[in-house]
Amino acid sequence: MTDAQLILERCDELATISSSPDFLERVHLSPEHAAANALVAGWMEQAGLSTWQDAAGNQCGRIEGREEGLPALLLGSHIDTVPDAGRYDGMLGVLLAIQVASRIEPGTLPFALEVVAFSDEEGTRFGTALLGSRALAGTWDDEWWNLTDKDGITLFEAFQDFGLDPARLPGAFRRPETLVGYLEAHIEQGPILEDADRQLAVVTSIAGARRFALTMHGKAGHAGGTPFDRRRDALVGASELVVEIERLSRTHDVIGTVGKLEAFPGGVNVIPGRAEFSLDLRAEFDDDRDKVLALIEQAAAEIAGRRGLEFEQHEIYRADAVVCDLDLRQAVESGIRSIGDDDPMAFWSRAGHDGMAVVAATPIAMLFLRCKGGVSHHPDEAVKQADVTAALDAFEAAVRSLAERH
Ligand code: GLV
Ligand code: MN
Ligand code: MN
Repeated sequence: MTDAQLILERCDELATISSSPDFLERVHLSPEHAAANALVAGWMEQAGLSTWQDAAGNQCGRIEGREEGLPALLLGSHIDTVPDAGRYDGMLGVLLAIQVASRIEPGTLPFALEVVAFSDEEGTRFGTALLGSRALAGTWDDEWWNLTDKDGITLFEAFQDFGLDPARLPGAFRRPETLVGYLEAHIEQGPILEDADRQLAVVTSIAGARRFALTMHGKAGHAGGTPFDRRRDALVGASELVVEIERLSRTHDVIGTVGKLEAFPGGVNVIPGRAEFSLDLRAEFDDDRDKVLALIEQAAAEIAGRRGLEFEQHEIYRADAVVCDLDLRQAVESGIRSIGDDDPMAFWSRAGHDGMAVVAATPIAMLFLRCKGGVSHHPDEAVKQADVTAALDAFEAAVRSLAERH
């Protein structure tokens, strides 16, 4: 079996660890997270790494460099998923990293090599994202302990249920002097590579994102008896704003998405008295994103005023844009050249990644590989075996190029 076949088989195996028999969902600090960590730890050990689960539930592995205890180059990605996920977003990057480590003879590099399977990149369970990588980077906010999941379980309780001691969380923090940098391989999650008929790209920067919980408050009432001019229909107000969010985002070249929308009390013959919805707003540059946010806020106030509604907004997540490190980028580029691509493509990531958090502790860079149709956050996610081979060889070459220059 080739390395790429092995990686793809392991992605299939990880995809069986799900909270639902019908689709893939594996969230932070769940029993499925524990099972995935155990499986990944076994693969890390087979690859010659010594393993541990850190104080934030990240699964880690390490091989030493020329001396014991040298600063480490981190390779990794995440093993949590969105609801009804594909099997490559995150997981493929972890498995590529393990396979790169398996190709490195322990004791030969001028740095240690560590692989991290981050516990929470998506934020599916607690709304705010990057919890694993923010713990590692030392940018943890103690207010997060009170975040709750859909069943009302706090992050604090979830840590305990998982067998982790919240008081020990600072133990996950990696001091910058213990690190050399962070490299992540990830599917592109967009169509740029496929449209250009190319396999790999180096990432120049990662889009800055902000996420909000939005609410329109109106007044519930009888769907038959309440005349239109007396209604304060929260859902119609929210819907108008959803359309405006798309229009403003498109006109100003930022990316705005409403991914959740729910009407309350939710009766077929009841005018919605409250609508709760979400906003994910991202752009290459934070200023552009924030200008459109101000326009969205203006639009929300206008719509609410005209319809007799009240608009409420609560920020649940913010990660500013991150520029990839030039030296690490050059290493990734030389990795891509080593597989015969003399002119590596380079573009910014529209998707968020753990590197956005890790950068607080150490420089980061990323390698993208093509995915079918650019589809991601969907069970149809797919990659070609030949692209996995190319990514693995390029990722290994990037590590070796960094070692030569270190
Ligand atoms: C992470 O997948 C994101 O939302 O960009
Ligand atoms: Mn994702
Ligand atoms: Mn991802």
